[in-house]
Amino acid sequence: MTEAATTHSTGDQLAGQRVLVTGGAGFIGRHVTRALVQAGARVIVADKQPGEVPEGGEALAGDLRDPAFREAAVTTGLDGIVHLAAATSVLASMRDPAGVHELNVTATAGLLELARLRDVPRFLLASTNAVVGDVGTATIDETSPLRPLTPYGASKAACEMLLSGYAGAYGMATCALRFTNVYGPGMAHKDSFVPRLMRAARSGETVRVYGDGKQSRDLVNVEDVARGVLTAWTQQAIGPLVIGAGRSVSVLELVRAAREATGTELPVEHIAAQTGEMPAVVVSIARARSLGYEPKVALEDGLAGVWQDFREQGP
Ligand SMILES: NC(=O)c1ccc[n+]([C@@H]2O[C@H](COP(=O)([O-])OP(=O)(O)OC[C@H]3O[C@@H](n4cnc5c(N)ncnc54)[C@H](O)[C@@H]3O)[C@@H](O)[C@H]2O)c1
Repeated sequence: MTEAATTHSTGDQLAGQRVLVTGGAGFIGRHVTRALVQAGARVIVADKQPGEVPEGGEALAGDLRDPAFREAAVTTGLDGIVHLAAATSVLASMRDPAGVHELNVTATAGLLELARLRDVPRFLLASTNAVVGDVGTATIDETSPLRPLTPYGASKAACEMLLSGYAGAYGMATCALRFTNVYGPGMAHKDSFVPRLMRAARSGETVRVYGDGKQSRDLVNVEDVARGVLTAWTQQAIGPLVIGAGRSVSVLELVRAAREATGTELPVEHIAAQTGEMPAVVVSIARARSLGYEPKVALEDGLAGVWQDFREQGP
């Protein structure tokens, strides 16, 4: 990263700020939107399917790949953009890299350019630790070199470079929030490991674990992610910022925690490890902590919240 990872602590608050949240109807977006509204922001959700927005919010329905929709969404007078809309599946990105580029990179470049033209001073992007790729068991922080291993990771790394350029050339306050594995209520449409565990707990089926299950992951609760976004905004963070739990657990430990949370047996079947399966994801959240971010949701409590959500929805 060439951009300076600097911050300015001004005590800037969100009350009355106009914030465009792209993808605000998604899993993370709904929690972020709610947190922003609770902090007093005036939120506009731009999403393919915006659904219901919290009271005081506004909804814009459309496809962000469409330049006309981007024009309608990025208006003069916005205080900033929280850009969450994206193609989010790593596996799907391997099947359709060009499609991922169109949404994750081209649409992001379009939004940034409109932000520049319309004097929108702040741009926060949902990025991922996948921009760093496989570092073995080393700890990932904001200085880790970007070596993504999939079209999805590459698309987010490309966005980070664009943000860096707009910060450097135009003084836009851009920040790439590198989320780890996010979990929490509202993720039933996802195919990541936590919802797979919950579906298996609900149906009594066996859970498939790649390899020996000793690979470790950092799982961050979506409420903590929302806190991280608000911290980045209020502290005017610039540059990359790792938002995670700061604690990694093995897949087998995660299964054990899910057994506790669900009160079910959750039998495990080990299958051959996938190529590209990372041996570990261990991140440092020291920079986020220095800005006042502190993850609060313990894994066991967070999993209980997801389980309740799955049970309420039924099979
Ligand atoms: N969930 C995770 O573990 C995780 C981890 C790292 C980074 N991220 C990033 O966080 C962001 C949010 O992820 P999520 O898990 O909430 O995903 P999600 O799929 O639940 O939400 C994405 C939202 O974007 C909207 N969207 C998709 N394509 C669109 C388009 N062309 N035009 C308008 N809206 C569109 C969808 O309707 C959806 O509401 C993404 O950028 C993702 O890459 C997520």
